[in-house]
Amino acid sequence: MFNGKSTIITGANKNLGKQTAIEFAKEGSNILLHYHLPSSANETEQLAKLLINDYNINAIIFGGNLSQEDITIELFDIAIEKFGKIDYAINNVGLMIRKPLFTNSLDEYNKMFDINVKASFLFLKYSELKLSEKGSVVMLTTSLLSAYTEGFSLYQASKAAVYWMCKTASKETQKKITFNCISPGPMNTPFLSGKEDESRINFLKNQAIEKRLTDVDDIVPIIKFIVKDGKWMTGQNLFANNGFLAPSA
Ligand SMILES: NC(=O)c1ccc[n+]([C@@H]2O[C@H](COP(=O)([O-])OP(=O)(O)OC[C@H]3O[C@@H](n4cnc5c(N)ncnc54)[C@H](OP(=O)(O)O)[C@@H]3O)[C@@H](O)[C@H]2O)c1
Repeated sequence: MFNGKSTIITGANKNLGKQTAIEFAKEGSNILLHYHLPSSANETEQLAKLLINDYNINAIIFGGNLSQEDITIELFDIAIEKFGKIDYAINNVGLMIRKPLFTNSLDEYNKMFDINVKASFLFLKYSELKLSEKGSVVMLTTSLLSAYTEGFSLYQASKAAVYWMCKTASKETQKKITFNCISPGPMNTPFLSGKEDESRINFLKNQAIEKRLTDVDDIVPIIKFIVKDGKWMTGQNLFANNGFLAPSA
């Protein structure tokens, strides 16, 4: 159980972030639900109300662009102000523009690196500075880190940077915080479906032993494991994709 714990979850208004928030609340954690755009404020507020009513926890919402340092500092400070401390921080934000490297504009490059790399750097930095002693940080990367394929160069490059920053942070922490990544396989959310046609989706399904895409419900228990029973593990990247890809030795 997470009774007495406090958790920050970014991108918590939908998909993987939302399901993570629901499952952490069920276990009794207080939650800061982050959302990106002002248009998501209402749905995030509704989710907070539901978690408070159904699970008797404290939930607050916070909106903003996490590639900005002042916003990231505010994210952590508001959680400390409302909950007194932060035990767990889960960074779920990400952006994928799927196209060949040679056709990416500098603007697209900047967008992807701003949200995947800069926001992760800020999140890792302020996690170390603001979390409680022996807290846990989980960063979302991707099983594509092990793929030799076309169309994902900037996504792969930027998520690889997340992995390396996270891994090194785990060695440098002054507060015995665990820093780990989780790398889902192709996951059944609009993040993926908006970018792949039906034949590609069928191909991706066929790569898994169970012949289906990864569901958010496949990933949440692993996030819970990392922060709770997996506390002896740090600096790792857990690939969770039902046989789609495995990192080489
Ligand atoms: N779906 C997949 O196939 C898959 C596979 C492996 C790994 N992942 C990773 O898993 C994580 C969750 O993905 P998901 O499928 O659940 O999709 P998702 O809901 O679209 O998650 C991405 C989140 O990042 C937020 N975001 C984007 N730019 C931001 C910014 N500048 N500041 C703050 N937040 C920002 C998005 O908000 P807005 O949409 O409102 O901008 C969204 O909430 C991502 O890190 C993704 O890279 C996904």
